[in-house]
Amino acid sequence: MSEQESEQEKAIKDAAQALGRGRLVAFPTETVYGLGADASNEDALKKLYDVKGRPSSHPVIVHLAHAEEAEKWCTNISEAAIVLGQIFWPGPLTLVLRKKKHVLDLVTGGQDTVAIRVPSHPIAQALLQEFGGGIAAPSANRFGRLSPTTAEDVRSEFGDEVAVVLDGGACEIGIESTIVDVSGDRPRILRPGMIQAETLAVVLEELGFVPEGDSGTVPRVPGSTASHYAPNTPVKLVSSADFSAFLEELEHQGTDTAVLAFRAPPVLHRHWITAARFPAHYAHNLYRNLRKLDAVGADLLLVEEPPLDGEWVGIWDRLLRASGSKQAEEECDGS
Ligand code: TXA
Ligand code: MG
Repeated sequence: MSEQESEQEKAIKDAAQALGRGRLVAFPTETVYGLGADASNEDALKKLYDVKGRPSSHPVIVHLAHAEEAEKWCTNISEAAIVLGQIFWPGPLTLVLRKKKHVLDLVTGGQDTVAIRVPSHPIAQALLQEFGGGIAAPSANRFGRLSPTTAEDVRSEFGDEVAVVLDGGACEIGIESTIVDVSGDRPRILRPGMIQAETLAVVLEELGFVPEGDSGTVPRVPGSTASHYAPNTPVKLVSSADFSAFLEELEHQGTDTAVLAFRAPPVLHRHWITAARFPAHYAHNLYRNLRKLDAVGADLLLVEEPPLDGEWVGIWDRLLRASGSKQAEEECDGS
């Protein structure tokens, strides 16, 4: 075993012990970093809400090492839930299921459902296996801010308030898990992610389900100005067709603009990031790019709109939230 490996193993053991003592531990997952607490410890959960600055009515996801453990937390597990778990776990899928009695209100926000995820990241897996229980973990950011995708992001967000931060480098996926509510008669997507609605639909249709609602698509006319997953700089989304004219107008007005676009800058521009055209790469870098551009302190953060379909749907959801154009759905507030 290399020295680095044994150091990491020790860090994971220490982190599992810290969780057992009711402390908070930040850890990498394949989506974003989570801020973990023992999901069965009320005091630890209170600390979690305190540190995040999150209202305690907002439920958190319980992370488990294996799909089979879901039975300890949930009841009435449907065929759809079992099949989705078999196919997508471990991985970036969260299932909302009927909770068992012992599951604390601080986990569920007082609802009769609980959100469960089995992450695939090796450090998250090792931590869960070492700890042996469920780890309640929202994304490791303060309420309403961008989710962290590196250990450094977590440290700069919380400083000394979170003593243990396991470092797994940059998260591969980069945006939060797809959330599917399988607690009712018909599965419903509550939060789009990199597991696409179309992919879920194929699996569910084979089981005879028609997924409910149109959550797989993004509303073209955003309905409200609520801000979630938001940078400090105001974010504006502009279509590719209007992009050049819009930017020219901003320059004409003297607006200091930071840009995330698919194209290269027309002239040298200090605060311009050219984004990948592949959704997986775009998502992987999305929060890091928004953080970088936010740090510039420009008047406006201009984002060229991506396509509206397939794997881009989860990305669109996060961009709309960053621009304050998407109201969080009631059950799934994007915290
Ligand atoms: O990728 C992810 O899901 C990351 C990593 C750390 O696993 N976690 C994450 O957690 O994004 P959080 O707390 O930032 O977002 C979880 C979302 C919240 O919007 C919450 O409202 C929703 O899940 N949620 C949790 N329990 C729920 C429930 N019982 N019913 C409906 N929505 C629920
Ligand atoms: Mg979050």
